This record gives sequence, C-alpha cells and structure tokens, in this order.
Amino acid sequence: MAPSRSIVFLVLSLWGSVHSFQPLFTLNGKSTTHRDITRQAILRKTAEVCRDIAASEGRPFSLAIDNALTVEKVQSACSGNSTSVLSTVRFHTSIAIMYFSNALVDVVYALSEEHHFDDETFKGGREVLTTDVAAVKASVKLENYMAGRIILGRACHSLQDFYSHSNWVELGKTSPYSALITPDQNMTNLAGPDVATCRNCTNGDCANNLLPDLLQQGLLTSGYFNIFSSKKPAGKCSHGGSFDRTSKKDPIGGINKDTVSSSHGPLHQQAADLAVNATVELLENIRLAVGDTNFLRLMGLSQSTVLCFVIDTTGSMSDDIAEAKRVSFEIIDKKRGTQQEPSAYILVPFNDPSVGPLVLTTDADKFKAEINKLSASGGGDIPEMCLSGLQLALTAAPPSSEIFVFTDAPAKDADLKSTVSALIESTKSVVTFMLTDVLASRRRRSVPGQWARDGSSRAMNQVAAQLYRDLAKASGGQAIDVTKSDLSAATTVIEDSSTSAVVNVFQVVSNPGKPDKFNFTVDGSIKNMTIYITGTSSLTFNISSPSGASQSSSVSSGPLAAMTTAGNLRRLRLHSDNQTGLWEIDVNSNNPYSVKVIGQSSVNFIYNLVEPHEGTHGDYSLKEGRPLTGGNATVLVTVTSDAVKITEVTLYDSSGPTEVIGTLLPQDDGNILVTFTDIPAGDFVLRIKGGDSTGSRSTTNSFQRQASTQIKPSSISVTVTDVTRPVCDVVSTTGNCSSSVCSSSQWGLTANISDGVNGTGIDSLTVRQGNGTLNTSTSISGGVNITVASYSASCCSPSVELKIVDKVGNVRLCTGQVKAAAATTAAPANTTANSTAFGLHSVSVRHSLWCALLLPFFWW
Ligand SMILES: *[C@@H]1O[C@H](CO)[C@@H](O)[C@H](O)[C@H]1NC(C)=O
Ligand SMILES: *[C@@H]1O[C@H](CO)[C@@H](O)[C@H](O)[C@H]1NC(C)=O
Ligand SMILES: *[C@@H]1O[C@H](CO)[C@@H](O)[C@H](O)[C@H]1NC(C)=O
Ligand SMILES: *[C@@H]1O[C@H](CO)[C@@H](O)[C@H](O)[C@H]1NC(C)=O
Ligand SMILES: *[C@@H]1O[C@H](CO)[C@@H](O)[C@H](O)[C@H]1NC(C)=O
Ligand SMILES: *[C@@H]1O[C@H](CO)[C@@H](O)[C@H](O)[C@H]1NC(C)=O
Ligand SMILES: *[C@@H]1O[C@H](CO)[C@@H](O)[C@H](O)[C@H]1NC(C)=O
Ligand SMILES: *[C@@H]1O[C@H](CO)[C@@H](O)[C@H](O)[C@H]1NC(C)=O
Ligand SMILES: *[C@@H]1O[C@H](CO)[C@@H](O)[C@H](O)[C@H]1NC(C)=O
Ligand SMILES: *[C@@H]1O[C@H](CO)[C@@H](O)[C@H](O)[C@H]1NC(C)=O
Ligand SMILES: *[C@@H]1O[C@H](CO)[C@@H](O)[C@H](O)[C@H]1NC(C)=O
Repeated sequence: MAPSRSIVFLVLSLWGSVHSFQPLFTLNGKSTTHRDITRQAILRKTAEVCRDIAASEGRPFSLAIDNALTVEKVQSACSGNSTSVLSTVRFHTSIAIMYFSNALVDVVYALSEEHHFDDETFKGGREVLTTDVAAVKASVKLENYMAGRIILGRACHSLQDFYSHSNWVELGKTSPYSALITPDQNMTNLAGPDVATCRNCTNGDCANNLLPDLLQQGLLTSGYFNIFSSKKPAGKCSHGGSFDRTSKKDPIGGINKDTVSSSHGPLHQQAADLAVNATVELLENIRLAVGDTNFLRLMGLSQSTVLCFVIDTTGSMSDDIAEAKRVSFEIIDKKRGTQQEPSAYILVPFNDPSVGPLVLTTDADKFKAEINKLSASGGGDIPEMCLSGLQLALTAAPPSSEIFVFTDAPAKDADLKSTVSALIESTKSVVTFMLTDVLASRRRRSVPGQWARDGSSRAMNQVAAQLYRDLAKASGGQAIDVTKSDLSAATTVIEDSSTSAVVNVFQVVSNPGKPDKFNFTVDGSIKNMTIYITGTSSLTFNISSPSGASQSSSVSSGPLAAMTTAGNLRRLRLHSDNQTGLWEIDVNSNNPYSVKVIGQSSVNFIYNLVEPHEGTHGDYSLKEGRPLTGGNATVLVTVTSDAVKITEVTLYDSSGPTEVIGTLLPQDDGNILVTFTDIPAGDFVLRIKGGDSTGSRSTTNSFQRQASTQIKPSSISVTVTDVTRPVCDVVSTTGNCSSSVCSSSQWGLTANISDGVNGTGIDSLTVRQGNGTLNTSTSISGGVNITVASYSASCCSPSVELKIVDKVGNVRLCTGQVKAAAATTAAPANTTANSTAFGLHSVSVRHSLWCALLLPFFWW
C-alpha cells in the first residue's frame, strides 16, 4: 500500500521523533545509542576473530576482550607484532559507515513496523532481518564490502530494536533471541492476536503494565506504535512516548526501553547490553558464512590501500602504459604477503570513444594479466574521454582511495567536471594526474592542425591542463607534468602513497602563485616525511627545520633532504633527524604552485558532515550535499589514536587565506562534534591541531593534520533524497543582493520540476521556508510534464525551500539561495552557469557509493 501523502510529509518533519534507541547521540549521554551498540559489538567480535586466528597460528594474543575495547587497541592486537606504522582509518571509516547506515533506518523506514519489530511483527521483522543478512553474505562473496557494510548497518538496527521494543528483557531473558537470525528455528510462544498483553500504567508509572499472565506463560509481545492514529488491537501494549498515539489509548502507556527516560527506561541498559550481545551473535553468523579473512575485510581491518589506475590507451601512450605496468608490478611484488599488500586493484582504460571496462579485483595476478593486455592504439581527434574514465574509477573505488590518471591529452568530456568534482567530494578520494608531454608542443597524431589550430598549441595545452589541475586541487592530489622519458622518476609518488598509514600534514595550492611563507608542525609520530612541490622551473624555495638548519631549492642533497626533480615535481625525502617542531617553507614564485607534506603516522582523522535532526532531542544524521554559504556546518571528527587529543579544528582556505575556527563538543567515545557558524564562500579543507592525550601542546607533542578533500560551501543546494521522487533542477538564479538595503532589491530562482516518465505526476508545490512569491507554469518536454517554478523574493529573504510532492506522496525538498557575494562581481550569465552546475552536481551525487547510504533506491 502506498503511503498517503500526509504520512510522508509527516515523516520528513518528524525526523526528531525517532522511536528507537537514539541513533547516534544523546543529549544527556546517559542512554546507549545504536552507534554505541554497533561499535561495541564490532570491536568485540573483531577482537574475538583475531584471537582465534592468533591461537590457530600459535601466536600470543594478550588483549582483554571487555567493554574498554577501542578501535586502536583492537587493530593493534590484530596486527600482531607488525613493525610498520599502523593506521586505523579504514577500520574507523567502516564502523562509521555501519552506524550511519544503522541510523538512517529511522529516517527511511520510520513507519515500517517490521524494521523496528513494532506491532508484534516478529515474523515480518525476522524476514527483513534474514533477507538483509543473506544480502550481506552475498555482497561479501562478490567482494562488494561497501554494500555489505551498508546492509549490515541496516540489519543491526532492526535486530537491536527488538530488545528495546519487545518484552524479551521483561521475560527475564539474559541471552539473545537466536530465532531472529535463524529462519529455520520456530518462533514459539508468540502472544496471539487476541491475547491481551498490557494494562494501564498507573500515574505515568509503567513498571508493572505487562500482564502477569503473559509473563508467567513466557509469551512474547512488542509495543504498537502509530503517529497518526490511536488504533490498536484490544488489550495490546504500546510503544509509548509523546509521538505514539496508541499509547494514549487504553491500555495507556508503553513498554519501550529506547532511553533511560522511556516507559521502561529502568530496563534500558539491560536491553542495550542484550542488543550488543545479539549484534555479536549476528556478526558471528556472518563470520561463519564468509570466513575469517573476508569478515575482517568487511570490518575494514586492513592496512592496505587500493591501487587504482585510469589509463589513456590511445596511440601515443605506449611508454606510459609500460611505466604504469612497471610501477604496479613493483608494488605488487614488493608487498605481496605483507600487511601492506593492496586490498584491491582497479584499472580503467579509456580511449575515444570507449571507456572501460572497469577491472576491479582483489587478485594481484588478475590485475597483472589485465594491465598486460593493455596496448596503445587508435584515438581519433585528440581529446579523449578522460573524465568518463575517472568517473568510473571514483564510483568503484572505496572512499578515500588514491587514484592515478595517466594521459597525454586534454579531456574531451570536460563537461563532466562538476560531476567528477561532486564525486570527489562525496568519496573523499584523492586524484593525482600523470600528464606526459602535455606541455611540450610535441604531440602525436596525424592531424596536428586540430590541436594547434590557432598556431598556439602550448596555450591550448595550458588551458586543457588546468582542468586536471583543478580536479587535483579539489581532491588534494597533484597534477604532475612530466616528459615521457622522466615519467619513472615521477611515479615514486605512487610508491609513496602505497605505503601504510600515509597522512597529510600540510598542503597548500597557490593560484595565481605569489611568494609566500608557510609553517607546519611535525610531531614525533611522523616517519618518512616527504615534501612535494610542484611549480614552474623558475620556482625557488627555502626550507627551515625546527633546529634551524635550512636547505634551498638549488641543493639536491643537503642537510635536510634528498631532492629529485621530474618535470614540474620536486620531491624531497627528509632525513629522519630533528624533525619534530615547527618547519617553515619560503616559496618564491609568481606562477601557480603547490606544496604538500606527507608522512607515515598512526595519528590521523576521519570526518563526516552531519546535520541536526529537525526535532529537539539533540541528535544528528549524515548530511547530504554541501553546506550553504552563510549557514552553519557540523562535522563529526574521529581521531585515530588514543595517545593524542584534538584541541583545534578549522576550515582553511589558502587563497584568502581564510581560517574559520570551529567550536568543539567532545563526545564520550572520543569523537568530537565540531560546529562552524556563518561559513564564508571558498574552497576549504579541514585542519586539525592538537597535543598529547591531555591536550597539552608543547613544541614536542603538538601535531597537525589536514584533510585532502575540499569542502565547498554552495550558494545553492538541492537535496536529493530518493530517485523515485520528483526531480528538481534549479535552472537559474537571478538578481543582485549586494545593496546594503535589502528591501530595495529582489532576487529570483527558476526550477524545472518533474516526476519523470514513469512518475505519477506533481501533486503539490509549496514554499516551505522563504518569504516570496511562487508562480508555476507547465510544459511538456520529451513526453514528460514539466512544472516550471518561478520564485521571487526580496533580498531580505535570501533563501527558499520548496516542498514538492508527487501523487503517491514522494517528497522532495529543493533549496536555493541568492548568491550574495558573487552577484556583485559576476555577470548574470555567470550566475546562471553556476546554478546549472550545482543542479548537475546534485543529480550526479546519486552515483556515489557514499551517498548511496542516503538513497533507499540503492538498498536492494
Ligand atoms: C612475530 O615475531 C616473531 C619473531 O620475530 C615472528 O616469528 C612472527 O612471525 C611474528 N608474527 C607476526 C604476526 O608478524
Ligand atoms: C516448527 O513448527 C512446525 C509447525 O508448527 C513443525 O512442523 C516443525 O517441526 C517445527 N520445527 C522445529 C524445528 O521445531
Ligand atoms: C485505563 O485508563 C483509562 C483512562 O484513564 C480509563 O478510561 C480506563 O477505564 C482504564 N482501564 C482500566 C482497565 O482500568
Ligand atoms: C554478553 O556477553 C558477554 C560475553 O559472552 C557476557 O559476559 C555478558 O554477561 C552478556 N551480557 C548480557 C546482558 O547477557
Ligand atoms: C611561522 O613561524 C614563525 C616562527 O614562529 C613566525 O614568526 C611566523 O609568523 C609564522 N608564519 C606564519 C605564516 O604563520
Ligand atoms: C620508510 O620508507 C622506506 C622505503 O620507502 C621503508 O623501507 C621504511 O620501512 C619506511 N619507514 C617506516 C618507519 O615505515
Ligand atoms: C640536529 O640537532 C643537533 C642538535 O641540536 C644538531 O647538532 C644537528 O646539526 C641537527 N641536524 C640537522 C640536520 O638539523
Ligand atoms: C548557526 O548557529 C548559530 C549559533 O549556534 C545560530 O544562532 C544560528 O541561528 C545558526 N544559523 C543557521 C542558519 O542555522
Ligand atoms: C519506465 O517504465 C518502463 C516499464 O517498466 C521501463 O522499461 C523504463 O525503463 C522506465 N523508465 C524510467 C526512466 O525509469
Ligand atoms: C514578507 O515580505 C513582505 C514584502 O516583501 C513584507 O511586507 C512582510 O513583512 C514580510 N513578512 C515576513 C514575515 O517577513
Ligand atoms: C500531463 O498532465 C496532464 C494533465 O494533468 C495529463 O493529462 C497528462 O497525462 C500528463 N502527461 C504525461 C506524459 O504525464
């Protein structure tokens, strides 16, 4: 049955009324959340698996498996006596994916009884659960660990809710209800449809509202829940709480144990503890099916990176293909059998017009065979389908991968730039370009005129290379211009990035370049520190170490570092002495340049943009899309070390330079919620600084890290929530709100809204927020009805949120905001182009795996 429109409306506005363990956070910190339960269970089961593996190999395993487990302790115990620098980034990231997916069930399946074991739907709930568990196992078999984590997070939610929503705890049970995850086990002792289960609570006290008969016979029941109607079968228990209308009806009150202040709040901790044990049992079930190695991969317990190449295979690329082969074989052969062996290999060849097929494998030999098959041939006119190839790689690689693109030609599909940028933002992957001979006038092909039509091939090439530089910058990667003969000196960056625990200490891009001095702090945990500087050959620099020694760009082997040069790249491998403290780099160049400082360290961080629920209970959910300029942004930051404490988090834009300082709200589990208010326009990266575990920041224990991916606040954001929902494409914003008197000027927005070919049609379009006027007209395009929305408002009301509902009740929110700052400088035509780009962005985000979390469409 399709939900009625009003239901879906309400669901959207009732994000705050979740009826489960709190998904991620609690206001008072006293109640256990789905996030805590999931995390505890994962740590415990992972530690158990590692203990068993150690025992089978006759190795000692000394970690005590108790409630004091941390990600760091488990990873370290699982890594045995490994001497390489350990990183917990992947483990942290996998756990975060699972708890964000878990929390999303309250949004996407808010009103599905089965997903919460409400309304005595034990059989339906078990079906949902066992279907998901089978899907997790199938995903692992297909090596799709990302999908596996998303589905597993969702399954955990339903399983955990059982212990809060049923009377299992009240029946005195002290072990999990195994029948929930084993379909062949009979569910006995379910209270029948006509069996009364509850009586009125007395003066709000629900301690004894379950009927004694029920408890004596050991019959299982769960609470009824409804936010619209108070109807429930006679004599049945309710869930309880202010949103549950059934609990206002005889028998009054509820039985849930979601928080310490719920109807059965005194049993909350018991329910949460049982939910942890039940989740452990579910994980054991999966482990038995997929095996220990695959289970640990699913948990993200891996040090290794993914080796990902996107390679142009047109005629002139044979040298590049040979080099890609050489460097990848070297990495594979060197790391095989070690903890740093890449966990997967991705290869995307592109030509013109073909792109792919994508090869994604965990088998190094298969990758070798595929890369051996590549040969350079063909290619018509010069530009190639580079961004299509990169797009494919971005959608296939796990988040935070580093992708290397080899090409010697401009991109023919430059129109994909905003799509690729959006994918980079959502996956946090780093893209480094190996551009061979792009800046040389030598160029292959028998049709040189096409490339150099205006007689100035070099100028054309600079423009083309800028696209690659922009994408490298947005992702925190580099654009390396090198001759084919020097390529093997440049691919050292690939080897550097394939070592374990690589961290970004400092990175800056100066464009247009200007002479500048930069400081960064190096802490004692950093090993193998490397500095990359890209820029023209006239660039000079001087580096000073904390001990006062310095080395200039004219010295290739000095007191501080050994330097190699390949094309526009200078790579400095720092000597290991006297590194701790404040470094300074003094760069002299009036052309664009970049500086990047990396090292190996177990101290790193992960972050996710979150946003408050509309309700008032203080919880957050994963934020989709970009923050708005002038708005607030909240980031959940996790540091990957027990030995340090973050004391400062900023959004840093080197072009200003602008640095927005965040307000830190530490959580019990060591994570930090960071809020930034009134974000200016710009291209920001997240920077963290801190000291030792007490937060002390002396010269010897200060550290800093910088995220790679840029965060770009947008002046227009379009929220995509469901592909089956109406589509909102903001075509343009117009107007100029730069005047100091806002009432004297107007702005406007035009959006094309449709419900798609197979949609039921737009039913209503309303202004949810914003004081302006909305006019609509309709037209037909390609057989689809389009509603054209024209919104105009005074500059005193600079943003708008439209609510669009189709005939079956799918809702889309579409938000827009006048581009205040740009309006003063940009021509109207420019404003329009920007709006379209953001529209594209929102649609393309759908393809990203990370955002798949938010799209029930992907929840097959
Ligand atoms: C631990 O160290 C011992 C002795 O150095 C070695 O034999 C063993 O293989 C190592 N175990 C692991 C898991 O590296
Ligand atoms: C489950 O119940 C069915 C009928 O209620 C019965 O035929 C079957 O034997 C039971 N299975 C088990 C394992 O108890
Ligand atoms: C339960 O409380 C309601 C409202 O106070 C009352 O109308 C009803 O009679 C009570 N039921 C019983 C069985 O006491
Ligand atoms: C959960 O499992 C652990 C380990 O098996 C056990 O010590 C603990 O008592 C269990 N907790 C509950 C609430 O059953
Ligand atoms: C770098 O550090 C030095 C020494 O502490 C200081 O004088 C200088 O202002 C700093 N420069 C920047 C750009 O922060
Ligand atoms: C530093 O890098 C070298 C080679 O690149 C490697 O052999 C060494 O193990 C690294 N050091 C650490 C501490 O990982
Ligand atoms: C390292 O520090 C020592 C003592 O401060 C000093 O003598 C030495 O020159 C320093 N080396 C470098 C490369 O800075
Ligand atoms: C941003 O946060 C500040 C302080 O918490 C608050 O006063 C303001 O209303 C928020 N702005 C928006 C747009 O949410
Ligand atoms: C519309 O539905 C038809 C039949 O189910 C299907 O073949 C087609 O792909 C759908 N089109 C879109 C855009 O979903
Ligand atoms: C809405 O705008 C109109 C005219 O632009 C103004 O008179 C009115 O006060 C505004 N209302 C609110 C609630 O801001
Ligand atoms: C467009 O809308 C009209 C009026 O609501 C309706 O009769 C027609 O079937 C629609 N066409 C399509 C292709 O949905």
